[in-house]
Amino acid sequence: MKTDRDYFLGTHDEELLRLGLQHRVWGAAVRDCWQRAGIGAGSRVLDVGAGPGYAAADFAQIVGPTGEVVAVERSGRYVEAGRAMLAKHGFANVRYHELDLMTDPLPGGDYDFAWCRWVACFVSSPALLVDKIAAALRPGGLAIFHEYLVYETFCFAPPHPRQREFAQQVMKGWRAAGGEPNVAQPLLRLLEERGFAIREAIPRIYCLRPADEMWQWPASFIRIHLEQQTAQGAIEASWAEAVRQEFAAAETEPATMLVTPLVLQIIAGKP
Ligand SMILES: C[S@@+](CC[C@H](N)C(=O)[O-])C[C@H]1O[C@@H](n2cnc3c(N)ncnc32)[C@H](O)[C@@H]1O
Repeated sequence: MKTDRDYFLGTHDEELLRLGLQHRVWGAAVRDCWQRAGIGAGSRVLDVGAGPGYAAADFAQIVGPTGEVVAVERSGRYVEAGRAMLAKHGFANVRYHELDLMTDPLPGGDYDFAWCRWVACFVSSPALLVDKIAAALRPGGLAIFHEYLVYETFCFAPPHPRQREFAQQVMKGWRAAGGEPNVAQPLLRLLEERGFAIREAIPRIYCLRPADEMWQWPASFIRIHLEQQTAQGAIEASWAEAVRQEFAAAETEPATMLVTPLVLQIIAGKP
């Protein structure tokens, strides 16, 4: 049973830690993206679907005392964890709001930047999300997204049949929960329809080996997702075990390559 305002991947402790690992291994790409967009001292940043605040903590340091960070998130557990983490670091320039992007208004306005990573893919209406972000930005403000363009690129070389099935099962469950993994292309269209100028649409994809630091990102996802889906009765325990075993075998082979699901980095300017 769901006890939090949950989402497809859950808001349990393991997922909270996985989001931290994910944020860390994507760190270089994300920093590059933020620099290209021009986020800096004094910026006002809206962190949309902020999770437990890993990006918000980075923004707090980047924008400094003259800037402002507003993090919005639906999960009470993540908001609580984020607030505690930010307080521990003494970041006074971040405010957290517990709200649902689909039903609640966004706080304040006139933000210079909106950062939205792996959130549009879970909401029931990406169009409504884009409308809200557009309304919250100042004219000329930038909407920045990291969202999947082609989840189907998630594969192994040499191929592993169970992993292919796993990727299909993830997408099926995601859609059944009301989201759309491949949301980046519709997002581009929605932004263009609202007059946004697409400054960048850059693919981010990685070919990983088991020894790479980033390998732990898909590895932890596979482990947690199999556990969660089995517990919810969405998949057979025997199939989950077969996926695990195949993955463990692939992982012991240093030459194995894992291709990540293709993320599109979008930087778009509000008219
Ligand atoms: C995969 S996590 C990404 C978190 C964060 N953006 C990051 O990159 O670390 C997706 C987040 O979106 C939040 N979320 C999903 N639907 C939401 C909604 N309707 N309103 C607010 N937050 C939502 C979830 O609670 C979760 O924290």
